[in-house]
Amino acid sequence: MNINGKPYRTIWLSDDGWSVSIIDQTKLPFALEIVVLKSLDDAVRAISSMQVRGAPLIGATAAYGAALALRTDASDEALDRACAALAATRPTAINLRWALDEMQKAVRNQPRDRRVAAAYARAAEICDEDVETCRKIGEHGVGLIKAHAEKKAGARVNILTHCNAGWLACVDWGTALAPIYRAHDEGMPVHVWVDETRPRNQGASLTAYELGAHGVPHTIVADNTGGHLMQNKLVDLCIVGTDRTTASGDVANKIGTYLKALAAKDNGVQFFVALPHSTIDWSLEDGGAIPIEERNAAEVTHMTGKLPDGSIATVAVAPEGSQAANFGFDVTPARLVTGFITERGVTPATPEGLRLLYPERSKAAA
Ligand code: MRU
Repeated sequence: MNINGKPYRTIWLSDDGWSVSIIDQTKLPFALEIVVLKSLDDAVRAISSMQVRGAPLIGATAAYGAALALRTDASDEALDRACAALAATRPTAINLRWALDEMQKAVRNQPRDRRVAAAYARAAEICDEDVETCRKIGEHGVGLIKAHAEKKAGARVNILTHCNAGWLACVDWGTALAPIYRAHDEGMPVHVWVDETRPRNQGASLTAYELGAHGVPHTIVADNTGGHLMQNKLVDLCIVGTDRTTASGDVANKIGTYLKALAAKDNGVQFFVALPHSTIDWSLEDGGAIPIEERNAAEVTHMTGKLPDGSIATVAVAPEGSQAANFGFDVTPARLVTGFITERGVTPATPEGLRLLYPERSKAAA
């Protein structure tokens, strides 16, 4: 997607042909800074500190992290150590494990002197595949928005989204935002309600940034506003992303997603989840078994923002000494989800719906 008219991906191979460039998302929306990853440790740090985040992008960065590690040591042991270090960075997004499995498959059977090239090639493919997958999610999802646009005969279609599941969370396009970009580009009058998404504000700082850069009308709302908006018929549909979806259709996504799904159900608002195949955990049925990341409590008790003099500062928003808990994700049961938007089409949020789209994967897990 474009920033100031210049096309970007979130991750790319640098001009030197081996180091890896990323957009440092901890600096957005106030500065567009590129960081260069030169080692496994750099990749581990980028994922843990959330310089890169969002399930598909975490996977893509881990893939390049494995390639960087192999440059120093291409042994089986080094590959296993690198994958273990990368897998430990963030526990909820299954794309991380998926990408590392792909890297193992691409590299393990290669002779040592070909492993680095094989790793870089697979990492690049993972990135390219993600772009194409997300483009197709947009293609399949746009019909859902079009149906509302036709019903509303020219009035704006209001879509609520949570966290950031746009191109900044992927390599390009995004998952939840891909149908929205497509609808906007096709001339539909879309407007996005952007949940701020405390504690790290991925909605206010990232979703608003990328929608603004693409010219999509949007309004940031405090996290608890969604229910009120839905009661007052100000939301036509919700579209969110996911970090891990089970074979039965339960959806782990950024904390607060479940409450939006409950409000949507109570108000008869459609609640769609957009996802690529790499986010489905075929080994799990029950969403309650998904590991939920718990992060530093300081993310709840403090906020970072821009001061009037332009400097960036972190300030306390809670009394010193109060305890805070920081659960990164929650699980929305499949029964609250209207449907999944995938690269293979739109399907009901049921085990049968998923099996129908991915017959080969569900057989493999059986
Ligand atoms: O903690 P984050 O910012 O990595 O969480 C991101 C989300 O929850 C996204 O909604 C999810 O990864 C889907 S991204 C296409």
